[in-house]
Amino acid sequence: MDKVIFITGASSGIGLHTAKLFQAKNWKVAATMRSPEKATDLARIVDIECLRLDVTDPESIRAAIAATLERFGRIDVVVNNAGYGLLGAFEAASSEQIERQFETNVLGLMSVCREILPYFREQKKGLIVNVSSVGGRMAFPVSSLYHATKWAVEGFSESLHYELEPFNIRVKLIEPGPIKTDFYDRSKELTKKEGLTVYDSFVSRAIDNMDKAGREAPDGEIVAQTIYQAVTDGTRRMRYGANTKGILKARKLLPDAIFFALIKKIILR
Ligand SMILES: NC(=O)c1ccc[n+]([C@@H]2O[C@H](COP(=O)([O-])OP(=O)(O)OC[C@H]3O[C@@H](n4cnc5c(N)ncnc54)[C@H](OP(=O)(O)O)[C@@H]3O)[C@@H](O)[C@H]2O)c1
Repeated sequence: MDKVIFITGASSGIGLHTAKLFQAKNWKVAATMRSPEKATDLARIVDIECLRLDVTDPESIRAAIAATLERFGRIDVVVNNAGYGLLGAFEAASSEQIERQFETNVLGLMSVCREILPYFREQKKGLIVNVSSVGGRMAFPVSSLYHATKWAVEGFSESLHYELEPFNIRVKLIEPGPIKTDFYDRSKELTKKEGLTVYDSFVSRAIDNMDKAGREAPDGEIVAQTIYQAVTDGTRRMRYGANTKGILKARKLLPDAIFFALIKKIILR
């Protein structure tokens, strides 16, 4: 029987690569996004259904799940990929910026989980793949709010997996390092407060170095391949890195002080 994958944030980057890869592997794909009317190329590919879904709009989540079941008859895997980075000095962030960051990266992901769980329980099977980041296991400068969301996703997912295991529903986490996508470009949001300039040179040094790492990184295909491995390897392994360049291991092995010195050397040089 054909398998069906449901992906959020499939308009660009990792989500788009994941949609195309699974289609190429003969999966049926619900490629959900905020503006499906713009996805004219993707919509032309057989077995890919482009559907409107804004993770901050629960009704759009329900409608996209219903449309997928109507079109493909089942959902085997949900990939919670939609997200973006709010970067810059914490003090400069507005309440609206902070709320939107959490509403998208955390509450939105939770809403998708909450909407799919009754269906997965009834089906007695399901897999939730949450796209976190290496930034869910460590923290870089000027990204405090983004890290707060990804650390939340990590804790949420790890706890959730215990209560879903008895229902044959698995939860997995994808932890990419830098990946060349719109994350570093149109999706990026910066904190800004009128008259607050004391952080400017620190922030621009860090962001320049992170953007450079993003520009020089591989594209979303490497993460799509990792998601494919996570979905198909048949194991209970929870965490999968992609282009991590040993940093997850370094975080695990090094004492805080040495790890922090390393991060400063890389990002604040
Ligand atoms: N790139 C990296 O270096 C990196 C590393 C680790 C983790 N990640 C994570 O990977 C995921 C995908 O990011 P990406 O790198 O592929 O960047 P991207 O190309 O900017 O893609 C982000 C996607 O999220 C969507 N999105 C944003 N807000 C949304 C909302 N409210 N509802 C539905 N969709 C929404 C965007 O849709 P629109 O087209 O409508 O804006 C876009 O499709 C994110 O969770 C990110 O945190 C990225």
